[in-house]
Amino acid sequence: MAEKSTKNNELMEKIVSLCKRRGFIFQGSEIYGGLAGTWDYGPYGAELANNLKNIWWKRFISDREDMFGVDAAILMNPKVWEASGHVSGFSDPLVECEKCHHRFRADQLEDKIKCPDCGGKLGEERQFNMMFKTHVGATEDESSVSYLRPETAGGMFVNFKNVLDSIHPKIPFGLGQIGKAFRNEIAPRDFVFRSREFRQMEVEYFVKPENWKEAFEEWRGVVLDWCKEIGLDMNHVHELEVADEDRAHYSKRTIDFEFDYPFGRKELYGLAYRTDFDLKSHSSASGVDISYFDEETKERFIPHVIEPSLGVDRTILAVLSDSYKEEGEGDDKRVYLKFSPKVAPVKVAVFPLLKNKEILVDKAKEVYKLLKKEFGAVMFDDNGNIGKRYRRQDEIGTPWCVTVDFDTVEKDAGVTVRDRDTGEQKRMTVGEFIEFARKELSL
Ligand code: GAP
Repeated sequence: MAEKSTKNNELMEKIVSLCKRRGFIFQGSEIYGGLAGTWDYGPYGAELANNLKNIWWKRFISDREDMFGVDAAILMNPKVWEASGHVSGFSDPLVECEKCHHRFRADQLEDKIKCPDCGGKLGEERQFNMMFKTHVGATEDESSVSYLRPETAGGMFVNFKNVLDSIHPKIPFGLGQIGKAFRNEIAPRDFVFRSREFRQMEVEYFVKPENWKEAFEEWRGVVLDWCKEIGLDMNHVHELEVADEDRAHYSKRTIDFEFDYPFGRKELYGLAYRTDFDLKSHSSASGVDISYFDEETKERFIPHVIEPSLGVDRTILAVLSDSYKEEGEGDDKRVYLKFSPKVAPVKVAVFPLLKNKEILVDKAKEVYKLLKKEFGAVMFDDNGNIGKRYRRQDEIGTPWCVTVDFDTVEKDAGVTVRDRDTGEQKRMTVGEFIEFARKELSL
């Protein structure tokens, strides 16, 4: 058991180090010593995140006829969070050491009496609200208080009526959005798993009250299909029926999709049945009627809501931990990220076999430009020998490397395409490669 946990810690260290070394994820504000719970995404991390967000948007929104995307403001009227119950109830239990003043989440401590850092006495447990408070405008008093949103959901509930009045969708339909959420976590930890600033991809799906169960099942399937599409090992994905006492205040049923991260099995996503809690609360707090009128049955009612909520950053960490592979020993050792091609930040790298042969470099640049036009995320590399170039691309998970050699130029014999996972090389024309890659990328 201890051996397994050391190996898993090692794996996390390797992932964190590769992310920094190869420009995926950096500590937030690093040159100033960092800011706990914040992370900055570098060039490959940003591409990886965008690919995931685009796949989500396609599967959860644009491929469907009953879904509409929105993009609401992060700062909202504080009454939104009063009505939603976040001002009074969005808190974690906090304990502080009376000696070193370090703070801990009480529910994550085995020993609630002794400080795990200095052995000092822990104080009384109290509730700590996780919303970031700020002031909007030039006056800094209670009248100008606002919060950074702790979930993107709020922006969809308060726009339910705007969407009804502007595009007149018929129930069942849903709103979806991708955006930042902020939580002043007491103990941010495990790399991007628990951050203070993170991104969510959320759907609020509005149904007739009697139809919530079938909608819940449908979205459960959509979430599992998404996990498969982004290449997660489904043996690492588990569903947990969340017990009554552990559910959020708004939920009557929640399933957590958990993932076997290197540091243990932890929540990846949530699927909640939020009933009519939010629309009802916003309706009564704002005084605006947020009900739906069914033209067919002539009934007016407050829709119920099914909410699949997916974290971008937890997805990235799950994808990274399933993709990280090592092979061979010593000088032959190679590290590669076995990303599904759709998810990979760079799709193709193009090399001239030799750097100092103009004829090869020119042809390789021509192929590079052609492929870049086709696939966007394509790299040109003529640094070092071919072996080193392969290693560099393996480490960022590029599925295919295309090499231009003398046969390409002199005999018009196509290019060699090397597969990241098997190392196998095949000769094909550039046209054949484009056709092959388009199929792999589902383009
Ligand atoms: N609107 C529902 C909601 O926000 P949640 O279970 O609190 O529910 C949903 O959060 C998802 O957001 C989580 O399953 C996770 O993927 C992500 N998430 C939540 N807190 C996070 C944090 N501190 N850091 C990174 N991701 C987080």
